[in-house]
Amino acid sequence: MSTPEKLAQIGVVGLAVMGSNLARNFARNGHTVAVYNRSTSRTDALISDFGNDGDFIPASTIEEFIAALERPRRAIIMVQAGPATDAVITQLADAMDPGDIIIDGGNALYTDTIRREAEMASRGLHFVGAGISGGEEGALNGPAIMPGGPAESYESLGPLLESVAAVVDGVPCVTHIGPDGAGHFVKMVHNGIEYADMQVIGEAYQLLRYAAGMTPAEIAEVFREWNSGDLDSYLIEITAEVLSQVDAETGQPLIDVIVDAAGQKGTGRWTVKAALDLGIPVTGIGEAVFARALSGATSQRLAAVGTLPAGQLSTLSELGVDRAEFVEDVRRALYASKLVAYAQGFDQIKAGSQEYGWNVDPRDLATIWRGGCIIRAKFLDRIREAYDTNPEVESLLLDPYFKGEMADLVDSWRRVVICATQLGLPVPVFSSSLSYYDSLRSERLPAALIQGQRDFFGAHTYRRVDKEGSFHIQWSGDRTEIEA
Ligand code: 6PG
Repeated sequence: MSTPEKLAQIGVVGLAVMGSNLARNFARNGHTVAVYNRSTSRTDALISDFGNDGDFIPASTIEEFIAALERPRRAIIMVQAGPATDAVITQLADAMDPGDIIIDGGNALYTDTIRREAEMASRGLHFVGAGISGGEEGALNGPAIMPGGPAESYESLGPLLESVAAVVDGVPCVTHIGPDGAGHFVKMVHNGIEYADMQVIGEAYQLLRYAAGMTPAEIAEVFREWNSGDLDSYLIEITAEVLSQVDAETGQPLIDVIVDAAGQKGTGRWTVKAALDLGIPVTGIGEAVFARALSGATSQRLAAVGTLPAGQLSTLSELGVDRAEFVEDVRRALYASKLVAYAQGFDQIKAGSQEYGWNVDPRDLATIWRGGCIIRAKFLDRIREAYDTNPEVESLLLDPYFKGEMADLVDSWRRVVICATQLGLPVPVFSSSLSYYDSLRSERLPAALIQGQRDFFGAHTYRRVDKEGSFHIQWSGDRTEIEA
Protein backbone atom coordinates (compact mmCIF):
# COMPACT_ATOMS: atom_id res chain seq x y z
CA MET A 1 0.00 0.00 0.00
CA SER A 2 1.62 3.34 -1.03
CA THR A 3 1.70 5.95 1.72
CA PRO A 4 -0.16 9.12 0.66
CA GLU A 5 2.12 12.15 0.46
CA LYS A 6 0.02 13.96 3.07
CA LEU A 7 -0.91 12.20 6.33
CA ALA A 8 -3.94 12.89 8.52
CA GLN A 9 -3.68 14.10 12.11
CA ILE A 10 -7.03 12.46 12.90
CA GLY A 11 -9.34 9.88 11.35
CA VAL A 12 -13.09 9.31 11.66
CA VAL A 13 -14.71 5.88 11.19
CA GLY A 14 -18.49 5.98 10.77
CA LEU A 15 -19.87 8.77 8.61
CA ALA A 16 -23.51 9.05 9.60
CA VAL A 17 -24.46 12.65 10.37
CA MET A 18 -22.60 12.85 13.71
CA GLY A 19 -19.42 11.30 12.28
CA SER A 20 -19.53 13.36 9.09
CA ASN A 21 -20.12 16.56 11.01
CA LEU A 22 -17.27 15.83 13.40
CA ALA A 23 -14.94 15.09 10.45
CA ARG A 24 -16.02 18.38 8.82
CA ASN A 25 -15.37 20.21 12.09
CA PHE A 26 -11.79 18.87 12.21
CA ALA A 27 -11.26 19.74 8.52
CA ARG A 28 -12.66 23.25 8.96
CA ASN A 29 -10.19 23.75 11.79
CA GLY A 30 -7.20 23.07 9.56
CA HIS A 31 -6.59 19.38 10.18
CA THR A 32 -6.15 16.73 7.52
CA VAL A 33 -8.86 14.17 8.22
CA ALA A 34 -8.92 10.54 7.10
CA VAL A 35 -12.48 9.31 6.69
CA TYR A 36 -13.87 5.79 6.33
CA ASN A 37 -17.32 4.26 6.31
CA ARG A 38 -18.17 0.61 5.76
CA SER A 39 -20.48 1.56 2.90
CA THR A 40 -18.39 3.87 0.71
CA SER A 41 -21.48 5.77 -0.47
CA ARG A 42 -21.40 7.78 2.75
CA THR A 43 -17.71 8.55 2.27
CA ASP A 44 -18.38 9.62 -1.31
CA ALA A 45 -21.30 11.80 -0.16
CA LEU A 46 -19.15 13.53 2.45
CA ILE A 47 -16.47 14.34 -0.09
CA SER A 48 -18.85 15.44 -2.83
CA ASP A 49 -21.08 17.53 -0.57
CA PHE A 50 -18.51 18.96 1.85
CA GLY A 51 -15.08 18.28 0.34
CA ASN A 52 -14.42 22.04 0.32
CA ASP A 53 -14.57 22.18 4.11
CA GLY A 54 -10.88 21.25 4.21
CA ASP A 55 -8.41 18.39 3.71
CA PHE A 56 -9.99 14.95 3.67
CA ILE A 57 -8.32 11.65 2.83
CA PRO A 58 -11.17 9.28 1.88
CA ALA A 59 -10.41 5.59 2.44
CA SER A 60 -12.34 2.68 1.00
CA THR A 61 -10.73 0.09 3.30
CA ILE A 62 -9.56 0.08 6.92
CA GLU A 63 -6.02 -0.57 5.64
CA GLU A 64 -6.15 2.56 3.45
CA PHE A 65 -7.58 4.49 6.41
CA ILE A 66 -4.75 3.37 8.73
CA ALA A 67 -2.10 4.13 6.10
CA ALA A 68 -3.45 7.69 5.85
CA LEU A 69 -2.86 8.48 9.53
CA GLU A 70 0.28 10.11 10.93
CA ARG A 71 1.77 8.46 14.02
CA PRO A 72 0.73 8.08 16.74
CA ARG A 73 -2.39 7.24 14.81
CA ARG A 74 -5.64 8.69 16.17
CA ALA A 75 -8.94 7.20 15.01
CA ILE A 76 -12.37 8.25 16.29
CA ILE A 77 -15.15 5.67 16.06
CA MET A 78 -18.58 7.23 15.51
CA VAL A 79 -20.79 4.18 15.08
CA GLN A 80 -23.82 2.82 16.99
CA ALA A 81 -22.83 1.87 20.55
CA GLY A 82 -22.74 -1.92 21.07
CA PRO A 83 -21.52 -4.80 18.88
CA ALA A 84 -20.81 -2.50 15.92
CA THR A 85 -18.30 -0.62 18.07
CA ASP A 86 -16.55 -3.83 19.11
CA ALA A 87 -16.27 -4.90 15.48
CA VAL A 88 -14.64 -1.64 14.43
CA ILE A 89 -12.32 -1.64 17.45
CA THR A 90 -11.06 -5.09 16.47
CA GLN A 91 -10.54 -4.03 12.84
CA LEU A 92 -8.56 -0.96 13.89
CA ALA A 93 -6.57 -2.71 16.63
CA ASP A 94 -5.49 -5.46 14.25
CA ALA A 95 -4.08 -2.83 11.88
CA MET A 96 -2.57 -0.44 14.44
CA ASP A 97 0.77 -0.32 16.28
CA PRO A 98 1.56 0.21 19.99
CA GLY A 99 1.09 3.87 20.98
CA ASP A 100 -1.75 4.42 18.53
CA ILE A 101 -5.04 5.79 19.89
CA ILE A 102 -8.60 4.52 19.35
CA ILE A 103 -11.32 6.94 20.49
CA ASP A 104 -14.91 5.75 20.91
CA GLY A 105 -17.07 8.84 20.42
CA GLY A 106 -20.39 7.03 20.78
CA ASN A 107 -22.63 6.77 23.85
CA ALA A 108 -21.01 3.54 25.01
CA LEU A 109 -21.79 2.05 28.41
CA TYR A 110 -18.88 2.98 30.69
CA THR A 111 -18.38 -0.61 31.86
CA ASP A 112 -17.84 -1.64 28.21
CA THR A 113 -15.30 1.16 27.95
CA ILE A 114 -13.45 -0.04 31.05
CA ARG A 115 -13.26 -3.53 29.50
CA ARG A 116 -12.18 -2.22 26.09
CA GLU A 117 -9.54 0.08 27.55
CA ALA A 118 -7.96 -2.84 29.42
CA GLU A 119 -8.04 -5.05 26.31
CA MET A 120 -6.43 -2.37 24.15
CA ALA A 121 -3.84 -1.54 26.83
CA SER A 122 -2.77 -5.20 26.77
CA ARG A 123 -2.00 -4.67 23.07
CA GLY A 124 -0.07 -1.46 23.70
CA LEU A 125 -2.88 0.67 22.29
CA HIS A 126 -4.54 3.65 23.95
CA PHE A 127 -8.34 3.44 24.18
CA VAL A 128 -10.27 6.63 24.90
CA GLY A 129 -14.00 6.54 25.63
CA ALA A 130 -15.12 10.08 24.85
CA GLY A 131 -18.60 11.44 25.52
CA ILE A 132 -19.49 13.90 22.77
CA SER A 133 -22.50 16.08 23.53
CA GLY A 134 -24.38 18.59 21.44
CA GLY A 135 -26.05 16.47 18.79
CA GLU A 136 -25.44 16.91 15.08
CA GLU A 137 -25.16 20.70 15.30
CA GLY A 138 -22.68 20.42 18.14
CA ALA A 139 -20.53 17.88 16.26
CA LEU A 140 -20.27 20.35 13.37
CA ASN A 141 -19.90 23.66 15.19
CA GLY A 142 -18.54 22.78 18.61
CA PRO A 143 -19.57 20.00 20.99
CA ALA A 144 -18.66 19.49 24.60
CA ILE A 145 -16.24 16.55 24.72
CA MET A 146 -15.61 14.31 27.73
CA PRO A 147 -12.61 12.07 26.97
CA GLY A 148 -11.51 9.40 29.44
CA GLY A 149 -8.66 6.96 28.90
CA PRO A 150 -4.94 7.27 29.68
CA ALA A 151 -3.75 10.78 30.60
CA GLU A 152 -0.81 10.17 28.24
CA SER A 153 -3.13 9.90 25.22
CA TYR A 154 -4.65 13.27 26.05
CA GLU A 155 -1.24 14.85 25.47
CA SER A 156 -1.49 14.10 21.76
CA LEU A 157 -5.29 14.11 21.49
CA GLY A 158 -6.11 17.15 23.63
CA PRO A 159 -5.00 19.91 21.24
CA LEU A 160 -7.00 18.31 18.41
CA LEU A 161 -10.17 18.02 20.52
CA GLU A 162 -9.72 21.52 21.91
CA SER A 163 -9.58 22.89 18.36
CA VAL A 164 -13.07 21.55 17.54
CA ALA A 165 -14.89 21.86 20.88
CA ALA A 166 -17.26 24.66 21.83
CA VAL A 167 -15.55 27.57 23.58
CA VAL A 168 -16.97 29.62 26.50
CA ASP A 169 -15.07 32.66 27.81
CA GLY A 170 -12.06 31.49 25.79
CA VAL A 171 -12.08 28.05 27.46
CA PRO A 172 -12.64 24.96 25.23
CA CYS A 173 -15.45 22.68 26.47
CA VAL A 174 -13.20 19.65 26.67
CA THR A 175 -10.75 18.28 29.21
CA HIS A 176 -9.34 14.91 30.23
CA ILE A 177 -12.03 13.58 32.59
CA GLY A 178 -10.11 10.66 34.07
CA PRO A 179 -8.86 7.15 33.25
CA ASP A 180 -10.62 4.32 31.39
CA GLY A 181 -14.43 4.68 31.59
CA ALA A 182 -14.54 8.08 33.33
CA GLY A 183 -15.47 9.97 30.17
CA HIS A 184 -18.36 7.73 29.22
CA PHE A 185 -19.57 7.61 32.84
CA VAL A 186 -19.71 11.38 33.02
CA LYS A 187 -21.45 11.56 29.64
CA MET A 188 -23.98 9.01 30.89
CA VAL A 189 -24.75 11.16 33.95
CA HIS A 190 -24.87 14.22 31.71
CA ASN A 191 -27.63 12.44 29.80
CA GLY A 192 -29.40 11.50 33.03
CA ILE A 193 -29.41 15.15 34.07
CA GLU A 194 -30.66 15.98 30.56
CA TYR A 195 -33.64 13.66 31.09
CA ALA A 196 -34.48 15.36 34.40
CA ASP A 197 -34.02 18.80 32.86
CA MET A 198 -36.37 17.92 29.99
CA GLN A 199 -38.93 16.42 32.37
CA VAL A 200 -39.10 19.44 34.68
CA ILE A 201 -39.52 21.67 31.63
CA GLY A 202 -42.33 19.34 30.54
CA GLU A 203 -43.98 19.56 33.96
CA ALA A 204 -43.80 23.35 33.87
CA TYR A 205 -45.35 23.30 30.40
CA GLN A 206 -48.12 20.95 31.60
CA LEU A 207 -49.02 23.32 34.45
CA LEU A 208 -49.00 26.46 32.30
CA ARG A 209 -51.09 24.70 29.67
CA TYR A 210 -53.64 22.84 31.76
CA ALA A 211 -53.70 24.72 35.08
CA ALA A 212 -53.16 28.27 33.81
CA GLY A 213 -54.98 27.58 30.51
CA MET A 214 -52.25 29.20 28.37
CA THR A 215 -51.75 28.40 24.68
CA PRO A 216 -48.50 26.88 23.39
CA ALA A 217 -47.63 30.21 21.78
CA GLU A 218 -48.17 32.04 25.08
CA ILE A 219 -46.12 29.44 26.94
CA ALA A 220 -43.35 29.83 24.36
CA GLU A 221 -43.21 33.51 25.24
CA VAL A 222 -42.99 32.65 28.94
CA PHE A 223 -40.07 30.30 28.27
CA ARG A 224 -38.35 32.99 26.19
CA GLU A 225 -38.69 35.33 29.16
CA TRP A 226 -37.40 32.69 31.58
CA ASN A 227 -34.44 32.12 29.26
CA SER A 228 -33.19 35.62 30.05
CA GLY A 229 -32.84 34.83 33.75
CA ASP A 230 -31.63 32.01 36.06
CA LEU A 231 -33.02 29.39 33.67
CA ASP A 232 -30.91 30.64 30.72
CA SER A 233 -30.11 27.36 28.95
CA TYR A 234 -30.19 25.49 25.65
CA LEU A 235 -33.12 23.30 26.64
CA ILE A 236 -35.28 26.27 27.69
CA GLU A 237 -34.34 28.05 24.47
CA ILE A 238 -35.31 25.13 22.20
CA THR A 239 -38.51 24.54 24.21
CA ALA A 240 -39.72 27.98 23.19
CA GLU A 241 -38.96 27.08 19.56
CA VAL A 242 -40.81 23.75 19.76
CA LEU A 243 -43.85 25.37 21.41
CA SER A 244 -43.92 28.14 18.80
CA GLN A 245 -43.91 25.69 15.91
CA VAL A 246 -47.21 25.42 13.97
CA ASP A 247 -47.97 22.16 12.15
CA ALA A 248 -48.06 22.99 8.42
CA GLU A 249 -50.59 20.25 7.69
CA THR A 250 -53.26 21.10 10.28
CA GLY A 251 -52.44 24.65 11.31
CA GLN A 252 -52.45 23.36 14.90
CA PRO A 253 -49.61 23.93 17.37
CA LEU A 254 -47.06 21.19 16.55
CA ILE A 255 -47.06 20.10 20.20
CA ASP A 256 -50.70 19.04 19.82
CA VAL A 257 -50.04 16.68 16.91
CA ILE A 258 -47.03 14.93 18.48
CA VAL A 259 -47.80 11.57 20.14
CA ASP A 260 -47.16 11.99 23.88
CA ALA A 261 -44.92 8.91 24.22
CA ALA A 262 -41.26 9.74 24.86
CA GLY A 263 -38.46 7.65 23.36
CA GLN A 264 -35.18 6.89 25.10
CA LYS A 265 -32.05 5.35 23.62
CA GLY A 266 -30.93 4.19 27.06
CA THR A 267 -28.41 6.52 28.67
CA GLY A 268 -30.96 7.77 31.20
CA ARG A 269 -31.76 4.18 32.21
CA TRP A 270 -28.06 3.40 32.55
CA THR A 271 -27.63 6.41 34.82
CA VAL A 272 -30.32 5.19 37.22
CA LYS A 273 -29.05 1.60 37.21
CA ALA A 274 -25.53 2.81 38.00
CA ALA A 275 -26.88 5.11 40.74
CA LEU A 276 -28.77 2.21 42.33
CA ASP A 277 -25.55 0.17 42.43
CA LEU A 278 -23.65 3.15 43.86
CA GLY A 279 -26.43 3.85 46.40
CA ILE A 280 -26.97 7.42 45.20
CA PRO A 281 -30.60 8.68 45.21
CA VAL A 282 -30.92 10.32 41.80
CA THR A 283 -34.64 10.71 42.36
CA GLY A 284 -35.09 13.46 39.75
CA ILE A 285 -33.38 11.46 37.01
CA GLY A 286 -35.16 8.28 38.07
CA GLU A 287 -38.60 9.86 37.97
CA ALA A 288 -37.77 11.36 34.58
CA VAL A 289 -36.84 7.93 33.19
CA PHE A 290 -39.99 6.38 34.66
CA ALA A 291 -42.09 9.25 33.28
CA ARG A 292 -40.82 8.41 29.79
CA ALA A 293 -41.63 4.73 30.36
CA LEU A 294 -45.12 5.54 31.65
CA SER A 295 -45.78 7.84 28.68
CA GLY A 296 -45.10 4.84 26.44
CA ALA A 297 -47.38 2.45 28.37
CA THR A 298 -50.06 2.96 25.74
CA SER A 299 -52.42 0.08 26.53
CA GLN A 300 -52.34 0.77 30.29
CA ARG A 301 -53.00 4.46 29.69
CA LEU A 302 -55.83 3.76 27.27
CA ALA A 303 -57.42 1.50 29.86
CA ALA A 304 -57.01 4.13 32.56
CA VAL A 305 -58.05 7.34 30.81
CA GLY A 306 -61.57 8.32 31.81
CA THR A 307 -61.95 5.28 34.08
CA LEU A 308 -59.52 5.78 36.97
CA PRO A 309 -61.39 8.01 39.47
CA ALA A 310 -59.73 11.43 39.82
CA GLY A 311 -61.42 12.38 43.06
CA GLN A 312 -62.44 15.97 43.85
CA LEU A 313 -60.36 18.29 41.66
CA SER A 314 -60.05 22.05 41.78
CA THR A 315 -59.10 24.80 39.35
CA LEU A 316 -56.75 27.74 39.86
CA SER A 317 -59.67 30.15 40.11
CA GLU A 318 -61.50 27.94 42.62
CA LEU A 319 -58.29 27.92 44.67
CA GLY A 320 -58.10 31.69 44.32
CA VAL A 321 -54.66 31.46 42.74
CA ASP A 322 -53.60 34.48 40.70
CA ARG A 323 -52.40 33.33 37.26
CA ALA A 324 -49.40 35.67 37.03
CA GLU A 325 -48.24 34.65 40.53
CA PHE A 326 -48.76 31.00 39.58
CA VAL A 327 -46.55 31.39 36.49
CA GLU A 328 -43.78 32.84 38.65
CA ASP A 329 -44.23 30.04 41.19
CA VAL A 330 -43.90 27.49 38.38
CA ARG A 331 -40.66 29.13 37.22
CA ARG A 332 -39.28 28.85 40.74
CA ALA A 333 -40.44 25.24 41.13
CA LEU A 334 -38.75 24.41 37.81
CA TYR A 335 -35.49 26.05 38.93
CA ALA A 336 -35.55 24.32 42.35
CA SER A 337 -36.27 20.89 40.84
CA LYS A 338 -33.54 21.42 38.23
CA LEU A 339 -31.08 22.30 41.01
CA VAL A 340 -31.91 19.07 42.85
CA ALA A 341 -31.34 17.04 39.66
CA TYR A 342 -27.92 18.62 39.10
CA ALA A 343 -26.98 18.18 42.76
CA GLN A 344 -27.92 14.50 42.55
CA GLY A 345 -26.06 14.05 39.25
CA PHE A 346 -22.90 15.53 40.72
CA ASP A 347 -23.32 13.29 43.78
CA GLN A 348 -23.41 10.29 41.45
CA ILE A 349 -20.29 11.44 39.60
CA LYS A 350 -18.46 11.86 42.93
CA ALA A 351 -19.53 8.35 44.01
CA GLY A 352 -18.53 6.84 40.66
CA SER A 353 -15.17 8.59 40.79
CA GLN A 354 -14.52 7.19 44.27
CA GLU A 355 -15.73 3.71 43.31
CA TYR A 356 -13.49 3.50 40.22
CA GLY A 357 -10.60 5.65 41.43
CA TRP A 358 -11.01 8.21 38.65
CA ASN A 359 -10.43 11.41 40.62
CA VAL A 360 -12.96 13.34 38.51
CA ASP A 361 -12.94 17.06 39.32
CA PRO A 362 -16.52 18.46 39.42
CA ARG A 363 -15.14 21.89 38.53
CA ASP A 364 -13.98 20.47 35.20
CA LEU A 365 -17.49 19.29 34.40
CA ALA A 366 -19.16 22.55 35.43
CA THR A 367 -16.64 24.29 33.17
CA ILE A 368 -16.95 22.14 30.05
CA TRP A 369 -20.74 21.77 30.35
CA ARG A 370 -21.18 25.54 30.01
CA GLY A 371 -21.13 25.19 26.23
CA GLY A 372 -21.66 22.75 23.39
CA CYS A 373 -23.60 20.12 25.32
CA ILE A 374 -27.34 19.62 25.61
CA ILE A 375 -27.48 20.71 29.28
CA ARG A 376 -25.43 23.86 28.68
CA ALA A 377 -26.78 26.55 30.97
CA LYS A 378 -25.75 29.84 32.51
CA PHE A 379 -26.10 28.49 36.03
CA LEU A 380 -23.24 26.07 35.44
CA ASP A 381 -21.02 29.10 36.13
CA ARG A 382 -22.58 29.11 39.59
CA ILE A 383 -21.96 25.38 40.00
CA ARG A 384 -18.35 25.96 39.05
CA GLU A 385 -18.12 28.74 41.66
CA ALA A 386 -19.70 26.45 44.26
CA TYR A 387 -16.99 23.83 43.71
CA ASP A 388 -14.33 26.55 43.64
CA THR A 389 -15.58 27.63 47.07
CA ASN A 390 -15.54 24.07 48.39
CA PRO A 391 -14.70 21.08 46.11
CA GLU A 392 -15.76 18.76 48.94
CA VAL A 393 -19.16 20.35 49.59
CA GLU A 394 -21.51 17.61 50.87
CA SER A 395 -24.20 18.58 48.33
CA LEU A 396 -24.49 21.40 45.81
CA LEU A 397 -27.65 22.38 47.68
CA LEU A 398 -25.50 23.19 50.73
CA ASP A 399 -23.34 25.67 48.86
CA PRO A 400 -24.10 29.09 50.38
CA TYR A 401 -25.26 30.55 47.06
CA PHE A 402 -27.57 27.66 46.25
CA LYS A 403 -28.84 27.50 49.83
CA GLY A 404 -29.82 31.13 49.37
CA GLU A 405 -31.50 30.31 46.08
CA MET A 406 -33.49 27.54 47.76
CA ALA A 407 -34.66 29.97 50.44
CA ASP A 408 -36.16 32.09 47.65
CA LEU A 409 -37.62 29.13 45.79
CA VAL A 410 -38.98 26.68 48.34
CA ASP A 411 -42.30 28.37 49.20
CA SER A 412 -43.23 28.66 45.53
CA TRP A 413 -42.10 25.07 44.98
CA ARG A 414 -44.42 23.84 47.76
CA ARG A 415 -47.34 25.90 46.48
CA VAL A 416 -46.92 24.50 42.97
CA VAL A 417 -46.73 20.86 44.16
CA ILE A 418 -49.83 21.37 46.34
CA CYS A 419 -51.66 23.10 43.50
CA ALA A 420 -50.75 20.47 40.94
CA THR A 421 -52.00 17.79 43.34
CA GLN A 422 -55.30 19.62 43.86
CA LEU A 423 -55.72 19.98 40.09
CA GLY A 424 -54.81 16.35 39.44
CA LEU A 425 -51.85 17.27 37.21
CA PRO A 426 -48.80 14.92 37.40
CA VAL A 427 -45.52 16.53 38.45
CA PRO A 428 -43.35 13.49 39.28
CA VAL A 429 -40.02 15.31 39.30
CA PHE A 430 -41.27 18.52 40.95
CA SER A 431 -42.87 16.51 43.77
CA SER A 432 -40.21 13.81 44.21
CA SER A 433 -37.48 16.46 44.21
CA LEU A 434 -39.33 18.39 46.92
CA SER A 435 -39.60 15.19 48.98
CA TYR A 436 -35.90 14.53 48.40
CA TYR A 437 -35.16 18.07 49.59
CA ASP A 438 -37.38 17.67 52.68
CA SER A 439 -35.81 14.25 53.43
CA LEU A 440 -32.33 15.75 53.18
CA ARG A 441 -33.17 18.45 55.69
CA SER A 442 -35.26 16.26 58.05
CA GLU A 443 -33.85 15.64 61.52
CA ARG A 444 -35.53 12.21 61.77
CA LEU A 445 -36.56 9.90 58.92
CA PRO A 446 -38.91 6.86 59.03
CA ALA A 447 -35.82 4.70 58.40
CA ALA A 448 -35.75 4.15 62.17
CA LEU A 449 -39.04 2.29 61.88
CA ILE A 450 -37.70 0.31 58.90
CA GLN A 451 -34.74 -0.77 61.03
CA GLY A 452 -37.15 -1.89 63.74
CA GLN A 453 -39.21 -3.85 61.22
CA ARG A 454 -36.08 -5.46 59.71
CA ASP A 455 -34.93 -6.46 63.19
CA PHE A 456 -38.38 -7.90 64.00
CA PHE A 457 -38.68 -10.18 60.95
CA GLY A 458 -35.02 -10.73 60.06
CA ALA A 459 -32.98 -10.02 63.21
CA HIS A 460 -31.00 -7.61 61.02
CA THR A 461 -30.14 -5.48 64.11
CA TYR A 462 -30.21 -1.71 64.51
CA ARG A 463 -27.93 1.01 65.89
CA ARG A 464 -28.93 3.30 68.77
CA VAL A 465 -28.70 7.10 68.87
CA ASP A 466 -27.26 7.05 72.37
CA LYS A 467 -24.46 4.48 72.19
CA GLU A 468 -22.19 2.59 69.80
CA GLY A 469 -22.90 -0.97 68.72
CA SER A 470 -25.55 -3.08 66.97
CA PHE A 471 -28.59 -4.29 68.85
CA HIS A 472 -31.43 -6.76 68.53
CA ILE A 473 -34.71 -7.20 70.40
CA GLN A 474 -35.61 -10.81 71.19
CA TRP A 475 -39.04 -10.28 69.63
CA SER A 476 -40.26 -13.86 69.96
CA GLY A 477 -38.93 -14.15 73.54
CA ASP A 478 -39.04 -11.68 76.41
CA ARG A 479 -38.36 -8.75 74.06
CA THR A 480 -35.21 -7.76 75.92
CA GLU A 481 -32.54 -5.98 73.92
CA ILE A 482 -29.24 -7.74 73.38
CA GLU A 483 -26.06 -6.40 71.84
CA ALA A 484 -25.46 -8.23 68.56
C1 6PG B 1 -26.16 14.65 23.57
C2 6PG B 1 -27.45 13.85 23.64
C3 6PG B 1 -27.35 12.55 22.85
C4 6PG B 1 -28.56 11.64 23.11
C5 6PG B 1 -29.64 11.78 22.07
C6 6PG B 1 -30.83 10.85 22.35
O1 6PG B 1 -25.53 14.81 24.62
O2 6PG B 1 -25.85 15.11 22.46
O3 6PG B 1 -27.67 13.51 25.01
O4 6PG B 1 -26.17 11.89 23.25
O5 6PG B 1 -28.20 10.31 23.01
O6 6PG B 1 -30.05 13.08 22.10
O7 6PG B 1 -31.00 10.63 23.72
P1 6PG B 1 -32.29 9.83 24.28
O8 6PG B 1 -32.84 8.96 23.17
O9 6PG B 1 -31.73 8.96 25.38
O10 6PG B 1 -33.26 10.87 24.73
